[in-house]
Amino acid sequence: MNKLIVSLLLTLGISGVAHAAGDAAAGQAKAAVCGACHGPDGNSMAPNFPKLAGQGERYLTKQLKDIKDGKRVVLEMTGLLNNLNDQDLADIAAYFASQKGSVGAADPKLVARGEALFRGGDLSKGLPACTGCHSPDGKGNAAAGFPHLGGQHAQYVAKQLTDFRKEESGRTNDGDTKPMQSIAKKLSDEEIAAVASYIQGLH
Ligand code: HEC
Ligand code: HEC
Repeated sequence: MNKLIVSLLLTLGISGVAHAAGDAAAGQAKAAVCGACHGPDGNSMAPNFPKLAGQGERYLTKQLKDIKDGKRVVLEMTGLLNNLNDQDLADIAAYFASQKGSVGAADPKLVARGEALFRGGDLSKGLPACTGCHSPDGKGNAAAGFPHLGGQHAQYVAKQLTDFRKEESGRTNDGDTKPMQSIAKKLSDEEIAAVASYIQGLH
């Protein structure tokens, strides 16, 4: 294809190349190295390693590109994606997206506070409900690239919210409208702990 046309299509975001659909079967083999931390099927056991199983393909592909480019900093993954091209990343994303995510349990002491925040936000400080983008059951919106949160490790979720709040580890990668940076800046440590615990048990 002509270079000018390609760049036009990329700008418009409608190119089949830019949004290459992943092949889950091809992705499984390419994802072998990831299993050590994220679990062979994407259900990691360690609370600091995010579960990838059942996560939206679009969201996963975007994070992988951000991590590969160094825009989002994951020291544990340094160099790991260097030899993977866009098709490899899309295939790996498709593989993990096709797996069934496991669910944990919420801390009974935090569940009421966490649920109220997740479902209702806090009008008094302009905090929107998480359900608006991440859906009432925490499944997110795969087509829009809003991540699935339900069942995710609380420790990982809390770290992301803190990173968005402090603009650390490159979690300034939530797009031009910065929805998560502005939301996280309205959350206290105690609120982050409560909503993260609620998310861990959500399904
Ligand atoms: C040595 C451990 C390790 C290995 C191996 C590893 N990762 Fe990760 N990965 C992590 C950690 C830790 C994080 C979360 C960092 C943070 O807290 O932001 C992460 C984050 C991610 C995320 C972001 C998830 C989200 O919900 O935003 C994706 C996607 C990901 N890894 C995919 C992969 C893939 C694909 C591979 C294999 C090519 C891989 N990882 C290999 C440790 C690892
Ligand atoms: C206006 C839409 C919107 C609302 C409301 C929203 N989010 Fe998000 N959230 C996003 C988007 C978009 C991303 C993905 C950003 C990216 O691409 O890196 C995200 C990412 C996240 C992540 C990172 C997921 C991962 O796997 O690393 C967490 C955690 C999160 N949101 C929690 C929340 C919580 C808790 C609330 C409510 C207090 C909330 N979000 C409200 C849009 C929203």
